[in-house]
Amino acid sequence: MEKIWSGRSAGALDKYADELNSSIGIDKRMYREDIQGSIAHAGMLAQCGIISPSEGAELIDGLGGILSDIDSGALAIDPAAEDIHSFVEAELTKRLGDVGRKLHTARSRNDQVALDTRLYLRRECGETVALIKDVISALCHVAEANRDTIMPGYTHLQRAQPVTFAHHLLAYGMMLSRDISRINDAAERMNVSPLGAAALAGTTHPIDRAVTAKALGFYAYSLNSMDAVSDRDHCVELCAALSILMMHLSRLSEELILWSSWEFKFIELSDEFTTGSSIMPQKKNSDMAELVRGKTGRVYGDLTTLLVMLKGLPLAYNKDMQEDKEAVFDAFDTAKLCLAVFAPMIATMKVNADNMLSAAKGGFINATDLADYLAKKGVPFRTAYKLTGQIVARCAASGKSLEDLTLAEYREYSEAFEADLYEEISLSTCVAKRTSAGGAAPSNLDIQLRFLGGVIDD
Ligand code: ARG
Repeated sequence: MEKIWSGRSAGALDKYADELNSSIGIDKRMYREDIQGSIAHAGMLAQCGIISPSEGAELIDGLGGILSDIDSGALAIDPAAEDIHSFVEAELTKRLGDVGRKLHTARSRNDQVALDTRLYLRRECGETVALIKDVISALCHVAEANRDTIMPGYTHLQRAQPVTFAHHLLAYGMMLSRDISRINDAAERMNVSPLGAAALAGTTHPIDRAVTAKALGFYAYSLNSMDAVSDRDHCVELCAALSILMMHLSRLSEELILWSSWEFKFIELSDEFTTGSSIMPQKKNSDMAELVRGKTGRVYGDLTTLLVMLKGLPLAYNKDMQEDKEAVFDAFDTAKLCLAVFAPMIATMKVNADNMLSAAKGGFINATDLADYLAKKGVPFRTAYKLTGQIVARCAASGKSLEDLTLAEYREYSEAFEADLYEEISLSTCVAKRTSAGGAAPSNLDIQLRFLGGVIDD
């Protein structure tokens, strides 16, 4: 295939140089955006009198034909083309003759690729946000059903204080809500049209950038042509937002894996999201959660690829930047697949409330409440903390729980202990009384569910 830039150079590219140079394998997926951008550009060229109205109409018509032919499969994207931009232009010229050659007036592939990528990523952002909402909705659903399911809350992976399974899950709902807002913020900042920046310095043709910006749904056009073609902040920002999203999914994956183990047995993932072992017939492995955890490293890698690729580049366009798409597309593909698995995996998991409760009963997780009990009776907290520590040590040595000691035994430590202490340290009281704003009490769940419901409906 003749190169779009053949003219100055007479010779063909070396075979491997051609392979290295080619980006069609990656950017062919932007064919819709490329054609959409070209249609807006052709319309603007005609509107500004740079080409005639009939030429404009012919170009728009021809581009529409190429789009529907690719969509229907009637036209295959040629893998030998250099990139999607040259493929579409060559096809248009094949169909329209010389008029097709007018499309690239006042434009460069530099502003074209910057445009296509923004349009493509805008759609990816919308799809990803919708998938995150599905996961939040699954978390809310399981939380609703587990408002009173008591489990140990952990710090240092040591049983710390009792919480509800609902409260634990909604913590992830909150994290994911921020992931949505990060993606939306980045999408908003990206929503500025680079089209018309041309190669790097704009054009002497009397174009109207506001026309194409509006037609393509941008709220503005970029004010500096060199920035427009050199900027890949949006790719970096989106990969960073996706890295944080994946980090959240990975942490939840880690918990799902732990909770599914025989050691915890808090949940059982449905067969649709687990696999067996080829040798150990008893095994039910949490492969999907493990893969999400593993794929997180891959998305971090995409972010690193972009940061390193960009750090030494002089203005304006450099071919290094062609690498941006493979990284950012991979980050979106990976995150979207993980999200699509996650929502139903959460929604269908079986919760073993009894095992969570028995785990909560061990490990003295009501010790803070015992100290608080004394503190509420006027014992200074630090003293109450120390006495409680001694009581815990005594129980631990004798294999008892705090509930097992008699009132007389408690009173050996402090006269402040009275019969109401048992009610105060029961696990359900410990959870129900944590009503401080944002605390683990079930009465704090509605406000969280309402907030997340708002995020989903937004
Ligand atoms: N395939 C190229 C890319 O993705 C398109 C832009 C080419 N521009 C150029 N000056 N060679 O970056």
